[in-house]
Amino acid sequence: MPKLTIDGTEIEVKPGAALVDVADEHDTELDFGCRDGMCGTCIMTPVRGAEHLSPASDEERDTLSNFDAEPGQRLACQVKILGDVEIES
Ligand code: FES
Repeated sequence: MPKLTIDGTEIEVKPGAALVDVADEHDTELDFGCRDGMCGTCIMTPVRGAEHLSPASDEERDTLSNFDAEPGQRLACQVKILGDVEIES
């Protein structure tokens, strides 16, 4: 089972689990707004294992660009967890 670490808290998740669903099921510091990749509220920073997140779509890249995200940042509402990953909210 992939291990997701959010702000130091470890959670075991099903392979391919949507991060937004995991966040709904656990008490995390992640904030969500539209949950549709548009508002930028959920921008987060992968610290380790970014290659184990589902690839960003063109729409996600557009939103990250529109909100001046740092290189490597992702939208928490858009990613699926494919392997061990550590993120900061
Ligand atoms: S919650 Fe709006 S972009 Fe993710």
